[in-house]
Amino acid sequence: MLSHKRDHYCGLLNKENAGQTVHLSGWVQRTRDLGGLVFVWLRDREGLVQLVFDGSDCSKELLELGQSLRSEYVLTVVGEVRLRDESAVNHDLATGEIEVVVREAELLNKSETPPIYIDDKADESEAVRLKYRYLDLRKPSMQRNLRMRSRVVNCIRGELDAMGFTEIETPILSKSTPEGARDFLVPSRLKPGAFYALPQSPQIYKQLLMLAGFDKYFQIARCFRDEDNRADRQPEFTQCDIEMSFIDEESIYAVVERMFARIFKEVKGIDIALPLPRMTWEHAMENYGSDKPDTRFEMKLVNISDAVRGKSEFVVFENALNEGGRVEAINAKGLGAMTRKELDSLAEFVKTYRAKGLPYMIFNADGSVKSSFNKFLTPELIEAVKSAMNAEPGDAIFFGADKKAVVWQSLGALRCEIARRKGLIDENRINLFWVTEFPLFEYSEEEGRYVAAHHPFTSWYTEDNQYLDTDKEKVRSRAYDLVMNGIELASGSIRIHRADLQAQMFEMIGLDPEEAHHRFGFLLDAFKYGAPPHGGLAFGIDRLMMLLTGSESLRDIIAFPKAASANCLMMETPADVRPEQLEALNIQVVEEKK
Ligand code: AMO
Ligand code: AMP
Repeated sequence: MLSHKRDHYCGLLNKENAGQTVHLSGWVQRTRDLGGLVFVWLRDREGLVQLVFDGSDCSKELLELGQSLRSEYVLTVVGEVRLRDESAVNHDLATGEIEVVVREAELLNKSETPPIYIDDKADESEAVRLKYRYLDLRKPSMQRNLRMRSRVVNCIRGELDAMGFTEIETPILSKSTPEGARDFLVPSRLKPGAFYALPQSPQIYKQLLMLAGFDKYFQIARCFRDEDNRADRQPEFTQCDIEMSFIDEESIYAVVERMFARIFKEVKGIDIALPLPRMTWEHAMENYGSDKPDTRFEMKLVNISDAVRGKSEFVVFENALNEGGRVEAINAKGLGAMTRKELDSLAEFVKTYRAKGLPYMIFNADGSVKSSFNKFLTPELIEAVKSAMNAEPGDAIFFGADKKAVVWQSLGALRCEIARRKGLIDENRINLFWVTEFPLFEYSEEEGRYVAAHHPFTSWYTEDNQYLDTDKEKVRSRAYDLVMNGIELASGSIRIHRADLQAQMFEMIGLDPEEAHHRFGFLLDAFKYGAPPHGGLAFGIDRLMMLLTGSESLRDIIAFPKAASANCLMMETPADVRPEQLEALNIQVVEEKK
């Protein structure tokens, strides 16, 4: 019997190995049976190599074994590497210059016909891929992605270790942490009616570790958030979580920049120029309508409120201005030749961002103007728009007229959508930069009050104290994000480290002292014992991997991700549990409310 212990990987063989006898183990990718001659592609984690079962030069049994092979059979072989004839070289295969003439072989396992073709070009539905994830993961791209992920995590550990950070694990069975999502709860058996919450992040623990004197902490931390799944959101995901004491923003930026430079160099061979650029939140919003702007293309937002005020009787503009809102616009340069259908679909698109419509003006080559509000056009309005937007023949100008937040959100999303549809984005560009000076508060329509824009442990610029009572939206926090190509990669802040200021913050976001004590009493207590000034940040390793691998979805860089409805199609979770399990937990399931 042949051992299954290989001495070479299939995908790493090359012409240097010619003449050697090698022992290979792997899966059958496909076979080609020419009668007395069988070609088999054998696959392992490194790639494919062609095996040859040559009836004129081997036993009948060995040829028959070769002929019996099917896709995904598990095979071990010993054979001789030989150079292929010039005419037989396969340039599509990394090992295409050689093949392995099989001398001995043993079938280690059979396979049923797999429901997935193990090929990156296969186009099964995502549901099938996720149901048979263990097969999907055999694909070269998935192997590559997960191995790159492992290298990135190693880089992170190596770099942070070199900078003197200590890796510390924090509990998964925890208490609610305020990152703004819904908690996943775990019922306690020993304390009926009480629940653990899975951490949305290790935020409070890491602050306590600063109090405990660890000075520089990090963790590759699993986080759990019960929120709607999206391409760049999973209910459980991984952060590289960092916290430091006796530092300021610059210290954090320096650590993160050094780490990112190393990651990009090591896995992509790209040199990132440091220090990374910075942009204030206000600049980002005013120019791109987003706090995570995609700056790989222009099409910036321009506030034309003053330019268009009173220039026409177009009620959409005039009402927005009279009601304290704004009129802003973007210039889709040279894209004036859009069809009615395209224009309508863009108008539909902005509705998902609460805009009630999408007025536009198209500057035709013959000097005329086509608009969705023709009957309100005046020469003054056209002139004002033309000059404010630098409009030239062939340009399409899209307007947002509403409250500031709606205008930013809808035009911000629209510029990205137009760029995507029209192929304006250079996919090879990496625009990595900091967004700084986020507002401390944001108004929650849902709750009818101000909430912490980042989280309630974030400190603020003391020069903005004057606005705390009068104009909350003007107070700038010491929070920062790292943004790449329109995606928020990391987020963090300098924290509050004094009990009185933390209590003040809770009060300002409407948490009454009793509730604050109930939820965060331990933190307020801890702050009584000499908390050092501290701050940190966390970046999403999944999101970073999505960008590094050029994947469309987080699902392509997580081994066993959840599908859109937060379920696992392979294990079929979430799932029922046995009645006695519920009983032990004192839990009764009532019928779903209609
Ligand atoms: P925040 O909530 O902004 O900050 O999260 C930090 C980073 O984690 C990633 N991330 C996610 N990735 C995948 N799926 C999700 N559902 C998801 N949610 C967040 C993002 C994000 O930038 N405790 C603070 C950090 C701090 O202040 O130090 C925190 O968790 O890349
Ligand atoms: P209408 O007067 O309905 O023909 O609309 C003229 C243009 O204004 C169209 O492009 C609409 O999409 C847009 N529009 C209409 N109402 C609103 C609104 N409340 N807010 C923003 N745009 C609007």
